[in-house]
Amino acid sequence: MSEYLIEKSKYIFSGELKVPGDKSISHRAVILSTFNKDMTKITNLLLSDDVKSTMYAVGSIGVMFAENNGKIFTRGTGIREYLESPETIDCGNSGTTARLLTGLLSGQNFKSVLDGDKSLRLRPMDRVKEPLEKIGANISTNNGNMPITINPSKINGGNIKITSPSAQVKSAVILAGLTGDSELNIELEIETRNHTEIMLNNFTENIKINGNKVLITPDPKIINDTIDVPNDPSSAAFFIIGALLNVNSHLILSQVCINPSRVKFIDILKEMGGDISFENKGILSGEPVADIIVKSSSLKGININKNDIPKLIDEIPVIALAMSLAQGGSKIEGLNELRFKESDRITSIVSQLSILGANIKNIGDDIEISGVEEFKGGLCDSFNDHRIAMMIAIASTRCKNDVKISNYNCVDISYPNFFESFTKFKKD
Ligand code: S3P
Repeated sequence: MSEYLIEKSKYIFSGELKVPGDKSISHRAVILSTFNKDMTKITNLLLSDDVKSTMYAVGSIGVMFAENNGKIFTRGTGIREYLESPETIDCGNSGTTARLLTGLLSGQNFKSVLDGDKSLRLRPMDRVKEPLEKIGANISTNNGNMPITINPSKINGGNIKITSPSAQVKSAVILAGLTGDSELNIELEIETRNHTEIMLNNFTENIKINGNKVLITPDPKIINDTIDVPNDPSSAAFFIIGALLNVNSHLILSQVCINPSRVKFIDILKEMGGDISFENKGILSGEPVADIIVKSSSLKGININKNDIPKLIDEIPVIALAMSLAQGGSKIEGLNELRFKESDRITSIVSQLSILGANIKNIGDDIEISGVEEFKGGLCDSFNDHRIAMMIAIASTRCKNDVKISNYNCVDISYPNFFESFTKFKKD
């Protein structure tokens, strides 16, 4: 068991910080580059444990990688010419790898078996099996969990409606559609992150987007040889909250992805009184980016409605932290999906913030918080969940006493140098 001790100290989150490349976009860059039989150049790829799981997975079906000067070069096989993996494909801790690969491999003429670590084995996989089987896939799971066996089958075109609030499920169906026999019309009931759609539109000719409808044409025709990955807003979120919660902070987070399906948490923090603005807006491989400027602010409580959750899904741990140190009461409704993340995040958020001294409780699928002035500190556990480890670290900056985090090195899943970035802001 790894333990990280954060001694009581002063933190000021000032200066400029570049957080790593976006995790969701990095997974997709690796997967889409496999369609290209020529070389694809990927810049700013996040080389974290989760993205490496995707690289190993596509490596085991014939895709090659090289690194030069911090850039990653891939040589794909084309979507119909992957090789059968001689072994079970290990998706590690990564739900995105497992679900997107299930879609990609469901229309192949060979069998694949996907497995994952203890935590991934607890996460639901029927949510991808069910829609994929509607379009012709033949998949078996272990009572809804991994390992997953994907049997050879043909994907049909036609119409399908996605009702799950999951970008991973939507992306699995889009990828399967690219291996199909005719056009696939996908209707999206709930808006979720749209990185697959944006990247497909930038890298191939095979998607038409019309409101909440997406038309996929099989057999990707490549129109680009480079994918630039913007910086990750979900990683930036930890330092945004750190800056808001600590006096005299003035932080610039450079060139972060500000796709509206990812930065709803910034709207919420602004409503709470947070001083946050965007400068130097631009577009990177189809994704909107900007420098995010944050200054210390005094926050007030707020209620978050369940309809907003899909656009905030990965930032709930730090939002709950901000609410715990805000003035007045807050409520977050409809958090059922948090039960299926790297840990049961309702339990891990509530238990760990309570240890530190927050006034937070879980009622059904909701969280209720009454803000306190400061935390006391204590012995915490990450539940092997990267976002919980980082939430505890940022919470420690407002603790009267030391904080110890057990199992802290799970931060490697999304932010391998997190503690290096974090200690830069320590002032004594
Ligand atoms: C992701 C989608 C989200 C998110 C996860 C990454 C993606 O999961 O929580 O960290 O890359 O598509 P769901 O779509 O299953 O909610």
